[in-house]
Amino acid sequence: MSAPLRIAIAGLGTVGVGVIKMIRRHAALIEARTGRTVEIVAVSARSKDKDRGVPLSGYAWEDDPVAMATREDVDVFVELMGGSDGPAKAATKAALAAGKDVVTANKAMLALHGQALGETAEAAGKVLRFEAAVAGGIPVIKALTEGLAGNEMTRVMGVMNGTCNYILTRMESAGLPYDEVFAEADALGYLEADPTLDVGGIDAGHKLSLLSSIAFGTQVDFPGVELEGIDRITIEDIRQAADMGYKIKLLGVAQLTGRGLEQRMSPCLVPDTSPLGQLDGGTNMVVLEGSDVGQIVLRGAGAGEGPTASAVMSDILDIARGTRLSTFGQPATSLTKSQPARAVTAAPYYLRMQLVDKPGALAKVAAILGEAGISIDRMRQYGHDEETAPVLIVTHKTTRADIDAALKDFEATDAVSGAPVTLRIEAV
Ligand code: NAP
Ligand code: HSE
Repeated sequence: MSAPLRIAIAGLGTVGVGVIKMIRRHAALIEARTGRTVEIVAVSARSKDKDRGVPLSGYAWEDDPVAMATREDVDVFVELMGGSDGPAKAATKAALAAGKDVVTANKAMLALHGQALGETAEAAGKVLRFEAAVAGGIPVIKALTEGLAGNEMTRVMGVMNGTCNYILTRMESAGLPYDEVFAEADALGYLEADPTLDVGGIDAGHKLSLLSSIAFGTQVDFPGVELEGIDRITIEDIRQAADMGYKIKLLGVAQLTGRGLEQRMSPCLVPDTSPLGQLDGGTNMVVLEGSDVGQIVLRGAGAGEGPTASAVMSDILDIARGTRLSTFGQPATSLTKSQPARAVTAAPYYLRMQLVDKPGALAKVAAILGEAGISIDRMRQYGHDEETAPVLIVTHKTTRADIDAALKDFEATDAVSGAPVTLRIEAV
């Protein structure tokens, strides 16, 4: 029997408490699978007196997570506080400098500092693992770094923010407007403390940037992710999309193109019969496409105590077993710097606009699209008020650059009122 693996946990919220419960509940199973026990040595959070529903008296308490990270009696520092900088980053750096392995669920920290932290860990001969940071309980990091390691990855896609998927599917099933469902999600406690992290696509963008790095051997480039949130999606868009056989999803797509790394996190239309189209509620789905394996679809809970703790545990058990992988699946210093490419891959687009209801307006719109080289596939006018007529256009395959050129020209006419809604129709 090997010596126990001694861990310290910083952050005793949803995930931290979930990890403590799993370690206590599955002690025998962990020992059977790794040949050693996992012992919690110390814990840290902001408030020592809070009742967290698990007994903590057997563990040393540390007010300062940075000090805890360097304790001599600790092998692995488990960072579950959150936040891209502040104590999470300081404690992670301190732990690596003190020769500890680190496990974290912190996508924000890794999306912004993953490259530097990965290099630090590897220079120190330590591991930095983050299975829980992407798609909660879905073992997608393991799938990419291990199960698919022999493939050249061609595309990574997914719905990686459960809150946005809940909002979009609830709008559709209940026929409710965005604001009402947003308020419901808030009351249910689904939203991050800063809701723009969810509905602005930032949280999902963080996750996509981490998957891209592993899939394409590139340095994490969160600023290179083209981000668009779901807050301008209306119930009309959802109804029109459904009418044409599509669902609207906050979809992340990453692929290497001849012009660089395309990373997009934006609302897209996907066929309602596809696995992504059928994904309801707070569930996540990640679709991985590899040169030899073809398409793999992974589906499961993207958040919550049990699923997220399950992912943290897989990293802890790997360390207990002696499995030591590079942070992003290859040495951090060998990751290349990617050139960001903005939606260069062509696709059909959905455009919804308010046409000024007067002679020649539709002709002007059609002419602008024609001049931009955009061909119309389908068009529909669906009732109008006294001054404007809602018009829906689905284009044939075109590029984002051509769509942007057309949108600019719309602005310069008196034919379109306000900014059109444009959504890419993704081939999934
Ligand atoms: P949470 O419930 O808000 O808990 C955060 C914990 O960190 C709390 O115990 C808090 O202490 C502690 N903390 C915050 N600042 C601290 C500081 N300065 N010093 C010491 N402790 C501090 O968060 P969570 O939902 O468990 O999330 C933890 C991490 O997992 C985040 O990186 C999050 O993005 C990630 N994650 C979460 C989920 C999920 O479903 N919740 C899913 C995937 C990834 P107090 O309790 O005393 O305030
Ligand atoms: N806010 C995130 C979500 C939590 O809704 O998916 C898990 O990362």
